[in-house]
Formats: sequence, structure tokens, C-alpha cells
Amino acid sequence: MSNLSTDPYKGVRDFYPDDMAVQRYMFDVWSQTAESFGFERYDASVLEPADLYKAKGAENEEMVNEQTYTFTDRGDREVTLRPEMTPTVARMIAGKQRELKFPVRWYSIPNLFRYERAQRGRLREHWQLNCDIFGSDDFTADVEMIALAYQIFMNFGADESMFGIKVNSRAALDRHFAESGITDSEQIKSITNLIDRKNKMEEAEFTAALRENAGTDFSLPAETPVEVQQILDALRELGIENAEYDPAIVRGFSYYTGTVFELFDTDPENNRAMLGGGRYDNLTALFSNESVSGVGFGFGDVTMRNFLESHNLMNAGLTSPTLMIMPMEAAQNLEAQKIAQQFRQAGVSVAVDMSDRKIGKKLSNAGEQFVDYALVLGEDEVGQESFSLKNLTDGEEISGSIEELVNKIL
Ligand code: HAM
Repeated sequence: MSNLSTDPYKGVRDFYPDDMAVQRYMFDVWSQTAESFGFERYDASVLEPADLYKAKGAENEEMVNEQTYTFTDRGDREVTLRPEMTPTVARMIAGKQRELKFPVRWYSIPNLFRYERAQRGRLREHWQLNCDIFGSDDFTADVEMIALAYQIFMNFGADESMFGIKVNSRAALDRHFAESGITDSEQIKSITNLIDRKNKMEEAEFTAALRENAGTDFSLPAETPVEVQQILDALRELGIENAEYDPAIVRGFSYYTGTVFELFDTDPENNRAMLGGGRYDNLTALFSNESVSGVGFGFGDVTMRNFLESHNLMNAGLTSPTLMIMPMEAAQNLEAQKIAQQFRQAGVSVAVDMSDRKIGKKLSNAGEQFVDYALVLGEDEVGQESFSLKNLTDGEEISGSIEELVNKIL
């Protein structure tokens, strides 16, 4: 009989403690930054009725037909593992529309499932920070969303040379279609899908396909639309200089009605968008006759991690304990736990290395795990109630009672 594989299901990840530390660090910066803008956290189940993604106005054909994990449950209901959070949050907003005091600012960090071809930056399960403002039609809400996305990068220690913000407007694109004499909705959809793929195609290939779909006279707008310029100007007033108009940013979802934007790494290794979003005025109309407008973005953990690693911004060892107690022999293991307990009660995070490795090895392991201090515990120390503490960063050693050492650490 062959053994079961230890690999996770294709395109999803296990989070061993090292990966979990990275994940937690990213989520902490995400949530702290969102909360610093006054966003409140919400959540929902990974399971949604499949209809939520098929409804007119919410659909993204590629996603619904090719990328969703959909199954029939034991009660014959069609169920989908959520591929994105926006339909869910629109459902939740519509459900409490009468009680909420708009504008509301909500954020969440859901895991999402898409049946994609796994590649750099794209997996079948990812986590995505979702931030959305509901109930404001003012353009400054769009500006605020981009400023929040920008601030997240700053809070990770990035600077403007490391990423770029690309902005467009679906409303402006619709005007451009009308001015170019293109009014058929199927044709508009297919041209929009083509523009969405522009940055993944060769220039000549794109031009040929555009001619075929839109005719020889059609070209992308040459000038920045007024509503996009207004946003770029406002961002500049907030000190954000790395945003520009890009007529090829249209976003794949049909619910967007106004501003659309994406953030990119300037490192060409990470060519996928890290973050994408925009304004959608009619999504809550699926659930209620009065619709509430929304504007927001989704920010993926996979592309975020690639970004932090490429630019050397990853903070390692974030969850290691401050102190490692190292018994010389198994006879001191229980005493080590008792001492650890006293340090913990004083507010120091501490672990015990009760392995049978030599002390030298214990010290080097602790150093590799970014532990700050080591306390080696032998028979003598236990008897005298005086301990010596080694600073693993600079090698300095001090001796004293537990209380004295706690004061030194804190
Ligand atoms: P999206 O462009 O599909 O937008 O996803 C947003 C971000 O999630 C992408 O830029 C990427 O970083 C990440 N992402 C998407 N799919 C994957 C994947 N298969 N693997 C790894 N990362 C991925 C939305 O989902 C919209 N609902 C966002 C939104 C919120 N719009 C308004 N509010």
C-alpha cells in the first residue's frame, strides 16, 4: 500500500509556523492601517449560494464559468466557495441598509477560492484584504481608497519607487465607446475584455485584435479623462506622486461603474496586479430597490508577500519569544518551566528549550530564530536563585534575581 501524499491540495498552501509569522505580520499591518482610516472589521462564511455570482450585474463570466468551486449540497442547493468578497459585502450592506449610518467603512481579510492555473502570484486559495466605503458618491471617497492602499505600502516600509498606481474610469470608457460610435453591449463587453488583457499581450497582437473587435478607426483614449485627472490632482495634494492614468486598466468585473484602479510592483519579476478596485454603484440593487454605492479594493496576500521579499521589506522572526530558557540537563526541565512562568507573569514572552542538544547548539538555534535573550539553567543557578542572562544580539551577560532580569529585559 502506498502512503498518502504530504502535499496540500493543488494550488493551496500549508502555513508552517515560519509562513504563519509572515502571514500574521502582513495581516497586522493591513488591519492596523485600515483601522487608522476608521474602517470597521466584518466577516462572513466561505460558503455562498451559487446564485450570488450568476446574478445579472455581478457576473464575471470567466470567473463564474471557469474559476468557481461550485458543488451541490445534500439538500440539492448549489453552493460556491466565495471567489471574491464584494458580492458578499454588498449582500450584507443591503441586509442592514435601514439601520446603517452611511457612509460606512468596512474591511475584512477573507480567504477566497478560484480554480486558476497556479503560477507566480496566482494560487487557488488566497487571502485578500477588502476595504470598501458604502454610501458616498463623492469623488473624495475614491481618493480615500487609493490613499489607504498607498498608506499600506508606506507602513510596510516601501517608497514610491517600488510601486505604481494606475487609474482609469469605466464611465469615461463608456463615453469613449459612444463617441466612437460603438453602442452594442456585446461588442463593448468583448472590447473591454480585450483591453483588460492588453498588458499581458504583445503590442502588435493587441492592435490587431482591437482592429478586429472595434474596427480600424477605434483607438484607446489619448487624453486623461476629467474625472481621472481630478483624482490624480487630489492624490497629489495628499502627497501621493506615483499615480497615473492608464487607459488599459478596465478590471474584469462588470459591476464597476466609475473609477477603477490597480497597484503594480515596479519590479518586473512580479508583473501581476497586487491590488485592484473601483467604484460600483449598483451592486446592492441586486438585493434591494434602493441601491447604495460602494467603492473599494481587494489586496492579495500572495502578491504582497512577493513584493515584500523582492524589496527586502520582510520583517523576519516576528513571533519568536523574547527569552529562551535552556536547562543544562533534563533534571532542570521542570525548574525551567517554573522560572518561565515567573517571567511570563511579569510580561516577558518566554519558551523553554528542553531538547537534549548541547548548550552551544541551543544558543545558535535561538539566535537563528531571532530570540533576544538566553538563560542557561544548571544545578548551581537553581540552588543560588541567581541567574545569568545573555543578550543574543550583542553577547553581553548580566546576572541577578528573576526580578532584576525582568527589569533588564523590559
Ligand atoms: P481582483 O482584481 O479579482 O478584485 O483581486 C484583487 C487582488 O487579489 C489582485 O490584484 C491579486 O493581488 C489578488 N488575487 C486575485 N486572485 C488571486 C489568486 N488566484 N491568487 C493570488 N492572488 C489573487 C476583486 O476580487 C474585487 N472583488 C476587489 C474589490 C473590492 N473591488 C471593490 N472592492
